[in-house]
Amino acid sequence: MQPDPLFTPLKLGALELKHRVVMAPMTRMRSAQPGHVPHALNAEYYGQRASEGGLLITEATDITPQAQGYRGTPGLYSAEQIAGWRAVTEAVHAKGGFIFSQIWHVGRISHSSLQPDGALPVAPSAVPPSGDHTDASGKQVPFETPRAMEEKEIAELVRDFVTAARNAQEAGFDGVEVHGANGYLLDQFLRNGSNKRTDRYGGSIENRARLLLEVVDAVIVAIGSDRVGVRLSPWGTFNDMSDSDGETLWDYVASELATRDLAYLHVVEPRADFTTDLPVDASAPDAASRFKSIFKGTYISAGGYVAETARAVVADARADAVAFGRPFISNPDFPERLRTGATMTWHDRATFYGGDHRGYTDYAPLEGASQSCVA
Ligand code: PHB
Repeated sequence: MQPDPLFTPLKLGALELKHRVVMAPMTRMRSAQPGHVPHALNAEYYGQRASEGGLLITEATDITPQAQGYRGTPGLYSAEQIAGWRAVTEAVHAKGGFIFSQIWHVGRISHSSLQPDGALPVAPSAVPPSGDHTDASGKQVPFETPRAMEEKEIAELVRDFVTAARNAQEAGFDGVEVHGANGYLLDQFLRNGSNKRTDRYGGSIENRARLLLEVVDAVIVAIGSDRVGVRLSPWGTFNDMSDSDGETLWDYVASELATRDLAYLHVVEPRADFTTDLPVDASAPDAASRFKSIFKGTYISAGGYVAETARAVVADARADAVAFGRPFISNPDFPERLRTGATMTWHDRATFYGGDHRGYTDYAPLEGASQSCVA
């Protein structure tokens, strides 16, 4: 029998993975308040999902108080938060697993009620996203017009990413994933629908990609390129993203990242839509083929995969690993179930964001499951 393409070892930066089924970053909004601190419940959740030689990526984690866009998201800027994350990484390592911290700043996808001193959210330019957002009290409110960042604030932002990466290291993470996807701050700089700047961070593609690359380079200097991954969502429209020439932009970003010797590049397929459980749009462009051929390094593909399509993308060498989100929520032993073809539990969308252990740590593993993913 041919070996299962998802269950062969993979070198990913400094790590030796035993399989290629990665847990995707997912917002769960269950940090302890006050202080946005990861706590025992979060350690239990990540520990349940760890597997021998498997990689988990945390929910997006605020690099500063200003980075926050949703109630209950955890941070990585205070001593309490670092201590809380340490319990998470220990729970994962105790099972022989690995865990990267996804570090983010939401930019304009926030609301003044969530910001320090009730200030306006910041963004590349004073361009509001269309639609609504949830404020600090849980009400749906229209997006506000953000304040354009000053150039000196951009330099501070790069330093904030570096501090978060160092904090992640102190908390015992195996690396960090720079969140450049899904319409958050770094993505807002990349695309000309949201970036109208006329300084060296706006205008040309080189200028719009400057911030992402400065952040990546500074984080690499701080913790080493083999501990740094980057997530992108080319052509994604979530959070009102648009660009007039996506092909040239994404080819440039992929070719620049190719020179950085990263642990990995993690790309969300344009067909993916995590806001619904409807079948994916099979006619959407295939990012994996295009990016993998430009980037060449270790490549994680995400977005609406099932067992069959995940095996195929790795077998065809269009990706080295596949990240799954929703099935990891409701199947704590997801890699083992995938490997054995076991029955999967369906997720309950009502408990995705916020709340307690319900819909979080109370999904059971298979009866008698060993939780070991090595054949
Ligand atoms: C969300 O909370 O809706 C969210 C967070 C991070 C993402 C995408 C969506 O990358």
